[in-house]
Amino acid sequence: MRKARIIGTGSTIPKRVLSNKDLESIVDTSDEWITRRTGIKQRHISSNSSEESTTGLASRASIKALKMAGVCPEDLDMIVVGTVTPDLQFPSTACMLQEELNAKNAAAFDVSAGCSGFLYALGIVNNAIRCGSCRLALVVGVERLSSITNWQDRSTCVLLGDGAGAVVVGSTTKHAGILSTHLKSDGSLGKLLYSSEGKIRAPKILRNIDLKPFHLKMEGNRLFKKAVACLTSIAKEALQQNSLFSKDVELMIPHQANIRIIKAMADNLKIPADKVFINIHKYGNTSSASIPIAMDEANQQGLLVQGAHILLVSVGAGLTWGASVLKWSM
Ligand code: UT7
Repeated sequence: MRKARIIGTGSTIPKRVLSNKDLESIVDTSDEWITRRTGIKQRHISSNSSEESTTGLASRASIKALKMAGVCPEDLDMIVVGTVTPDLQFPSTACMLQEELNAKNAAAFDVSAGCSGFLYALGIVNNAIRCGSCRLALVVGVERLSSITNWQDRSTCVLLGDGAGAVVVGSTTKHAGILSTHLKSDGSLGKLLYSSEGKIRAPKILRNIDLKPFHLKMEGNRLFKKAVACLTSIAKEALQQNSLFSKDVELMIPHQANIRIIKAMADNLKIPADKVFINIHKYGNTSSASIPIAMDEANQQGLLVQGAHILLVSVGAGLTWGASVLKWSM
């Protein structure tokens, strides 16, 4: 049976760095609190230039992934973009990206699944490739959370950042690539993390950002506990379905929401710290972009070795959560 496999990765982040120290001038917070409670030291914030629009970031990450894969945009059958911060309500970011890449043979659409957007998109593409309706696809996670940040709310504005990651997905007839994808949701928990109408003023030091007329609201404490439980249970389900144990995982790449969430989940799963990929200190929570950015960095660092079992796991607004087990084969 045909399986899907990742054949190229790419990522990009906006130029501007916003440090914890910078945030001290915006809200009543401290570098010490942010570092201790979240693991975040800085995040990147996009400007209102077209290069750093949602489509612009998606395009830059995609070009890198396509180049690594050696795939021409015209060869893509499908583009799926996970995002909750599109440039426009419609057309989709995926369609705007299709135009920018000149991927004229690809069907293109967005997926809204909060921080699980990338894994939802990967799940769709995995199934499309397995059933033969798609040969080559581009999966993107891109977010400009700075555009929906409440810059007066210290409990959320310190967490969020912008960026994009992309993977090109092809196929294989071997027992390799994407072994399984697992997706779940619970709409009754939607109020733990949602977007609310109302425009918030941009802080003085960030005058040139593009603020949307709504912003993010979160019940951090309850979400924290739920996140740990959801991530643990779906990671266990994913391993079990592939007859794998925690000791078989060479690298776990979790959604980067909070270092304490990642550590609690890894402890529950008995996955040692040196097998957990972490880059939250550099980018904060970039929602659906966090896993593909981390995957690209792990790839660049040579951590994704042939045959290694890689566990991807995420949780986000919806509530949505997901996991995927890969047997790396590039
Ligand atoms: O990506 C989707 C999934 N996202 C998540 O899963 C995020 C889940 N939640 C979290 O990561 C954490 O709940 C937060 C980082 C948001 C908050 O950490 P916490 O340890 O749960 O803190 P808390 O909300 O219980 O607040 C503790 C104290 C409060 O003060 P009092 O009431 O004890 O006096 C807050 O007002 O920390 C205060 N606080 C802050 N202090 C300094 C909250 N935010 C800040 C801040 N700086 N930025």
